Amino acid sequence: MPAIVVLGAQWGDEGKGKATDLLATTDPIDFVVRTSGGHNAGHTIVIDGEKYATHLLPSGILTPGATSVIANGVVVSPEALFRELDGLLARGVEVADLKVSANAHVIASYHATIDKVTERFLGKNQIGTTGRGIGPAYADKINRVGVRIADLFDEKILREKIDAALDVRNHLLTKVYNRRAIEVDAVVEELLSYADRLQPMVCDTSLLLNQALDAGQTVLFEGAQATMLDVDHGTYPFVTSSNPVAGGVCVGAGIGPTRIDRVIGVIKAYTTRVGSGPFPTELFDEDGIQLQTLGGEIGVSTGRTRRCGWYDAVVARYASRVNGLTEFFLTKLDILGSWDRIPVCVAYEIDGQRVEEMPMTQTEFHHATPVYEYFDGWNSDISGCRSFDELPKNAQVYVQALEEMSGAKIWGVGVGPGREQTVVVHG
Ligand code: GDP
Ligand code: IMO
Ligand code: MG
Repeated sequence: MPAIVVLGAQWGDEGKGKATDLLATTDPIDFVVRTSGGHNAGHTIVIDGEKYATHLLPSGILTPGATSVIANGVVVSPEALFRELDGLLARGVEVADLKVSANAHVIASYHATIDKVTERFLGKNQIGTTGRGIGPAYADKINRVGVRIADLFDEKILREKIDAALDVRNHLLTKVYNRRAIEVDAVVEELLSYADRLQPMVCDTSLLLNQALDAGQTVLFEGAQATMLDVDHGTYPFVTSSNPVAGGVCVGAGIGPTRIDRVIGVIKAYTTRVGSGPFPTELFDEDGIQLQTLGGEIGVSTGRTRRCGWYDAVVARYASRVNGLTEFFLTKLDILGSWDRIPVCVAYEIDGQRVEEMPMTQTEFHHATPVYEYFDGWNSDISGCRSFDELPKNAQVYVQALEEMSGAKIWGVGVGPGREQTVVVHG
């Protein structure tokens, strides 16, 4: 199975880091690739009880022998890149080989400044971004005033590009937002300071990955963010500024769709969301607090409390459809071990009508209320289970029911954060 995509099927934080790490350590994987987003991601990996967090770096950085790749679709803050690498090195981690695309766009400090100012300006309509400059960096890319990694190695070109990028931005900052203008020299100096350390990592990652696939090597594409945060297919405008769906992998890595063999949607046994935006199964009661507490639902990147709710099969079916999922990896089943009755949203009610599929408009989605089906809980700790047969009967029924209503088979189930805390359902 040479090309495998792992992506988020909900609103992020489904456990993509764990799923990637698991695949990278159970099968020989040659490359682990990030294709979209930036250091807005926060992926947790637990190895032998040690916890690691990656943001911009692919989780494969912890798998020696696999080459980690930051492909062209990613927006790269060199500052965040080296802070993260140095953090791992300081912990004595043997980091994998890392390659960075020459075509990836650069996040400079002014992108974060603009991100934060824009959010403040939006007031009650704010998106709740991570404040890392992701949206402004992608906006520059689409406006064709972005700076790419290759530009860091030519001071003259870099200066021209920063000059052009800041021209409009500075008008906006000073005249609309009442802020100080950003100085071109300071930005050029900041970015040039990373050039020497970055240069040996930079290459044509599309060529590298296509050659690897031609040679029959295995490439794992590690998703960041998630389907419902996709700028086209998510809950726009409460989304990120990239395409975390499966199609985005082809654009973000420079590989053709015919290359992809498996598309695994990582999905929690319940639902969480960070930031603003609609969330039909969100809980505002004791159950929500309990999911948040038992699940440790605190953001890895920003430390924000995640909003919590029950499993939403409409979202799952939608994710299965827009990504062409071949399977799901269901995480955090262990967190549901203390409920007598577990609700699952099987459809929505919108203006008095039962709706089985994701509604066409955002207005309808804002009006959607969940239609629940109830499952008996198992009231036990399943974190030690290692096979499907070891799971309590009611947990098996829950998993099988989710599989039937979600549009793809469930390949594996997470019963704890550790690599080994996994139950394979369909091997
Ligand atoms: P990602 O952004 O999709 O990689 O997910 P995050 O790392 O932001 O959040 C997922 C959290 O759930 C992390 O703290 C993981 O260690 C943890 N986790 C992943 N799978 C499981 C699981 O099956 N059970 C439990 N209890 N925790 C899990
Ligand atoms: P991982 O990879 C959860 C959310 C932010 C905000 C919106 C836009 O860990 O699953 P941005 O800074 O991207 O412009 O913010 O998207 N968001 C995430 N939520 N997990 C993530 O990544 C996220 N990355 C962005 O909270 O609502
Ligand atoms: Mg996360």
